[in-house]
Amino acid sequence: MHDQATILREMASHPDEAPRKSFRVISVTSGKGGVGKTNFTVNLALALIDFGYRVIILDGDLGLANVDIACGLTPRFTLEHLLSGEKTIEEILITGPKGLGILPGGSGVQDLANIERIHLENVIRNLGRLEGLADILLIDTGAGLGHTVTNFLKASDDIILLTTPEPTSLTDAYGMLKALRSDEQKKIQVHVVVNRVSHEADARATFERLENAVRRFLQGSVSLLGWVYEDPLVGKAVMRQEPLAIAYPTSAAYHCIQWIAGSVSGLYLAPPHKESGIRGFLTRLLRH
Ligand SMILES: Nc1ncnc2c1ncn2[C@@H]1O[C@H](COP(=O)(O)OP(=O)(O)OP(=O)(O)O)[C@@H](O)[C@H]1O
Ligand SMILES: [Mg+2]
Repeated sequence: MHDQATILREMASHPDEAPRKSFRVISVTSGKGGVGKTNFTVNLALALIDFGYRVIILDGDLGLANVDIACGLTPRFTLEHLLSGEKTIEEILITGPKGLGILPGGSGVQDLANIERIHLENVIRNLGRLEGLADILLIDTGAGLGHTVTNFLKASDDIILLTTPEPTSLTDAYGMLKALRSDEQKKIQVHVVVNRVSHEADARATFERLENAVRRFLQGSVSLLGWVYEDPLVGKAVMRQEPLAIAYPTSAAYHCIQWIAGSVSGLYLAPPHKESGIRGFLTRLLRH
């Protein structure tokens, strides 16, 4: 592991391969499954595209409701084929609505954090090309992947944590924050989105419950990025296998996501990492 990180650091400092400074990796996660991550990620990506960003989603979801399904697409290859050296990044990337790039993860997501040394250079070369293809890599982390999820989160530039007002969702969101803060990286800033709320007050009360617990028991802080209303059109879009942004662009839920995209695009949620871009991300991913 140490060796991999050393190689990556050396590559990161190679002047010819200086990463684009603006490239950002944003992970979307939740404690409990089924809170709306995949729908949120896809629609946030589409809203960010409208703000002029080129966006690629890494689908780290091993469950059934995958990013490709949400977009009505069927991938042929996944990250597994990249890690095994069978396919290039261009061969596994699929294109969704508005030119959204989708990288199907499959079980390759778990392997990415444990790449064998012989495959490492090939993976860096391939993933490094993402920086020429996108400005933002959004990762739908899926739920319940344990260490893989927290490693991805710690490697990201920004973390968005989704919860609903349900007590179980909130408890699991707290559990996720606790896992994230249980080691040396106590300063990770986490941006909370409360999904499926009926009113603003509902969102604020949910956020305050989480914030209080984090302050009291973890001596940490979280910030409220925004909320998304409970909206029957989300379920309808899912049934149509069309993103909400395409099927119902004037829906209340999508308006909320556009508002959140405005915040995400208007400011850097966290101070930039010293080593930016894909190489910086992989260096941090492999450090754990
Ligand atoms: N704002 C909303 N209003 C109404 N329904 C919603 C909303 N957000 C999500 N849902 C419903 O929740 C379901 C689950 O959403 P989604 O698949 O995005 O969750 P997930 O967190 O990715 O789940 P998993 O952990 O299984 O990957 C959707 O099919 C949709 O019906
Ligand atoms: Mg999902």
